[in-house]
Amino acid sequence: MFRIKTLNQISPTGLSVLDASRFTVSDGVENEDGVLVRSADMQEYVFPPALRAIARAGAGTNNIPVDRCSESGIVVFNTPGANANAVKELAVCALMLASRDVVGGVEWVKAQARAGEDVAKVVEKGKRQFVGPEISGKNLGVIGLGAIGVQVANIATKLGMTVYGYDPFLSVDAALSLSRLVHHVTDLTAIYKNCDYITIHVPQTADTKGMLNAAAFDQMKTGVRVINLARGGLVADEDMIAALKSGKVARYVTDFPDNALTLVKNVVPIPHLGASSPESEENCALMAAQQLRDYLETGNIRNS
Ligand code: MLT
Repeated sequence: MFRIKTLNQISPTGLSVLDASRFTVSDGVENEDGVLVRSADMQEYVFPPALRAIARAGAGTNNIPVDRCSESGIVVFNTPGANANAVKELAVCALMLASRDVVGGVEWVKAQARAGEDVAKVVEKGKRQFVGPEISGKNLGVIGLGAIGVQVANIATKLGMTVYGYDPFLSVDAALSLSRLVHHVTDLTAIYKNCDYITIHVPQTADTKGMLNAAAFDQMKTGVRVINLARGGLVADEDMIAALKSGKVARYVTDFPDNALTLVKNVVPIPHLGASSPESEENCALMAAQQLRDYLETGNIRNS
């Protein structure tokens, strides 16, 4: 019997592949053989002696002490691609929110209703207050042309945008096949100089941490709109706040809000909803649970 500890609420569909005759799955098991985790921070997690594997129902593994796991022989799995569709769809929504001030408008209408105003009558005033540009005809920079970045680029072109794409890990073949879709650039400066909108879709690593910082903002167009659904640490928050205050960045849509950012005008804070669709939660849970099951039962490793 294998013991699996769940550190977050995991979709029951995923858990159903862990047959009850062979797996005990609960948030209360002790000396677990495996852990199923979504976003819970495991950096200080004390490994019990039996622990052999951790499966992250999601793409990013920066909530898991990967180096410490390697040293202890604990295998870490993640589920790349399983939530790509959900993130792609939120990215399209974020592109719109970066442009049209729907969030400001909605908050304003609700505030009017709370203040006892007849909202049907004040709409006329609101429509002049919450004006935002159209994305059609504008340049979008996509940093990271993996599963999500390519899909965002594809939709953006259909919405009339010209897309510049940057990815230092793109193979020559992949770059060639993408060349009809995006202006493939090998230098981020080309993205910064040319783009009205920039969306980032790379993992957070030692190399990418804080990559959107003051030096990057300095090279960008004044009034650029930035979207980050990838990882909070990719953006140097203090530099972003300064860029928003100076008007260099016109709006920042982030799936990684904190208090300092949230309180700044022109920030659209989203509570980490990138993967929050039932479909994506099921896909991630299923892939994570299957990996854990296969590894514990047969030693078979996929995607570690
Ligand atoms: C991911 O890295 O894929 C997301 O953070 C998943 C999640 O929201 O749990």
